[in-house]
Amino acid sequence: MAREREERRLARLRALSEAFGVAGFEDEVRALIRREVEPYVDEVRVDALGNLMAIKRGRSSKTLMLDAHMDEIGFMVSSIEEEGFLRVAPIGGWDARIVPSHAMTIKTQTGQKLKGAIGTPPPHILTPEERDKPFKLEELFVDVGATSREEVERLGVRIGSPAVIAYPFERLNERCVMGKALDDRVGCAVLVEVLEALEDEALELTLVANFAVCEEVGLRGARTAAFQIEPAVALALEGTVAADVPGVPPTRRPTALGKGPAITVMDRSLIAPPRLVEFLARLAQEEGVPYQYKVPPFGATDAGAIQQTKGGALAGVLSVPCRYIHSPVSVMRLDDFENAVRLTAAFARRAHELLEL
Ligand code: CO
Repeated sequence: MAREREERRLARLRALSEAFGVAGFEDEVRALIRREVEPYVDEVRVDALGNLMAIKRGRSSKTLMLDAHMDEIGFMVSSIEEEGFLRVAPIGGWDARIVPSHAMTIKTQTGQKLKGAIGTPPPHILTPEERDKPFKLEELFVDVGATSREEVERLGVRIGSPAVIAYPFERLNERCVMGKALDDRVGCAVLVEVLEALEDEALELTLVANFAVCEEVGLRGARTAAFQIEPAVALALEGTVAADVPGVPPTRRPTALGKGPAITVMDRSLIAPPRLVEFLARLAQEEGVPYQYKVPPFGATDAGAIQQTKGGALAGVLSVPCRYIHSPVSVMRLDDFENAVRLTAAFARRAHELLEL
């Protein structure tokens, strides 16, 4: 791959991964994506919930919806203690065992970013029984260095202020990158690159790239976006669960790194239409793109909500495998990303073939 293109890809992945975008607070991600996609489409609009839709008109008025969600799991300040500590409530599916002892970024009322430590009582003072038990989320507190509630409020923190566990994006080696929120900023990045790749091409179907809000709290944005878009065909692009790690048997590994993008046959939100699954697999073979099937039934995706819009849509899921999603930091392979872009672009060019029944 041309060096310049690779650098652009990495810079975009970094910006998207590091952007603050807890469900319901996607503004920063949306602004970034808007700038990226505007040159490649005919129209960009934002709906009441905050979904960003980038529209590229095709020969047909029938629509292909490509969806990626902008939101990430995070937290919200639920109370401020007299001594200046914060308590937080989870937004989305956290594993409480892995939350303690990270650094937290809190977004204040004025949009400033405040750092804090997710504190726990030190092991020295715990009884042996207490040490054996994981902390519950409600036991955790955030220390921003303040000494009173008034001081915290002066900093612009309120009940309802959103927060994330923030890690910088890193390139681990030639193959792999590591960062937060790859679920689903990697899908957003795939979608931006697909629009870029199609810039000079006339498509058969009208393409609506929907960058959705609030997937992590119940597929909320995609549901209302699909209602407006009325897609004939749709594909949700995800950063999905890879579990090719020590201690996990093959039957519980939804996907593995390095085997190409994953085609979903079923997850907890949908059963993918078999002819859509077969079409994606055939396209991958024709394009010379490696692919894998995601082992059912793990995870849920926007495709589940899109499929059930109005009279129904032919919807599926294509994912880039990512290890450790729904944790503070995930690992992904760049060749899986590249292959997801290639397969999705091919799908956008040929999805109309699915409608010629
Ligand atoms: Co996701």
